[in-house]
Amino acid sequence: MNLRNALKLGIAQLRDAHLPSDTLGAELLLLHATGRNRAWLYSHPEDLLSEAESQLYFALLEKRVSGIPLQHLTGRQEFWGMEFEVTPDVLIPRPETEHVVEVSLDRLALRDLRSKRGQNMSGAGLHIADIGTGSGCIAIALANELPAATIYAVDVSPAALCVAERNATRLGFLGRIHFLESNLLQSVGSRSPLATHHSPPLFDLIVSNPPYIGRREMPELQAEVRDHEPELALYGGEEGYEFYAELIAQSAMRLKAGGLAVFELGHNSLPAVQPLFDCHAWTNLGVTNDLAGIPRVISAAKSDTNNSPVVRPGNQA
Ligand SMILES: C[S@@+](CC[C@H](N)C(=O)[O-])C[C@H]1O[C@@H](n2cnc3c(N)ncnc32)[C@H](O)[C@@H]1O
Repeated sequence: MNLRNALKLGIAQLRDAHLPSDTLGAELLLLHATGRNRAWLYSHPEDLLSEAESQLYFALLEKRVSGIPLQHLTGRQEFWGMEFEVTPDVLIPRPETEHVVEVSLDRLALRDLRSKRGQNMSGAGLHIADIGTGSGCIAIALANELPAATIYAVDVSPAALCVAERNATRLGFLGRIHFLESNLLQSVGSRSPLATHHSPPLFDLIVSNPPYIGRREMPELQAEVRDHEPELALYGGEEGYEFYAELIAQSAMRLKAGGLAVFELGHNSLPAVQPLFDCHAWTNLGVTNDLAGIPRVISAAKSDTNNSPVVRPGNQA
């Protein structure tokens, strides 16, 4: 069978199974099975698949039809222009999480402008923590944009940390990011190279895409997500927003004055999460919508003082 016919058959199988993105899905599986790139696929459509390639391709299609996520079959997902390894131990990076990186970079630049420090494009001197790093996608994207920043990537899952470290190594960020097993920031301080006995590290930026789905939403969740992605990465509690209270409380203690918290929100989390940013501890609250118009990122600065809060909800602070 040639590449063109294999692709047509694959698209038809995925379409019949009512899977989204059938063309892209079949294309990615065919590229994975043959080890070719897209340019090759479309410039050599008459090339024949070997027996082994054909067997692998149709086996992958069968698994996809059974509901296994495409990214678990190819082992890859793009994020921030880089290709990340993904396994069932980590959340598959989602495009909307790129807003967390964008808001972080925008707010760091704005902070420098406000303080008349001059823009610090390299991130020199900045200490950043990514809580619940999963595949490492946010930490690695920030390391790519802020090459001189010191970055801590923490996760409570040792299996996720292994994937994140492999991604950092493969993408050329080995040694740039400190990976730590920790429940939120609890162990960051005692073990981190930043900490001294007297002063646990204070951060300039704390980012997180926390687990935010409610366990009560489990029955309505897409089977592909519910049955294949790690529970630890998905559920934030019965309602979903429970995780944020401790995340915000720890961030308030671990940020410098003027330091920034930037957190991804679940599709319905904003009403429960916004009031947790107590106006005595936080200032310049901002909410950023994703491309679908859903409030997706909440961000705030740690107050310099314990009074005169400036709360400014709306798009981007
Ligand atoms: C929604 S996933 C986000 C993964 C990745 N940052 C991303 O955006 O694709 C949440 C991550 O938080 C981790 N996690 C869950 N509870 C945690 C806790 N108490 N402390 C640290 N990490 C936790 C999970 O293991 C998971 O990797």
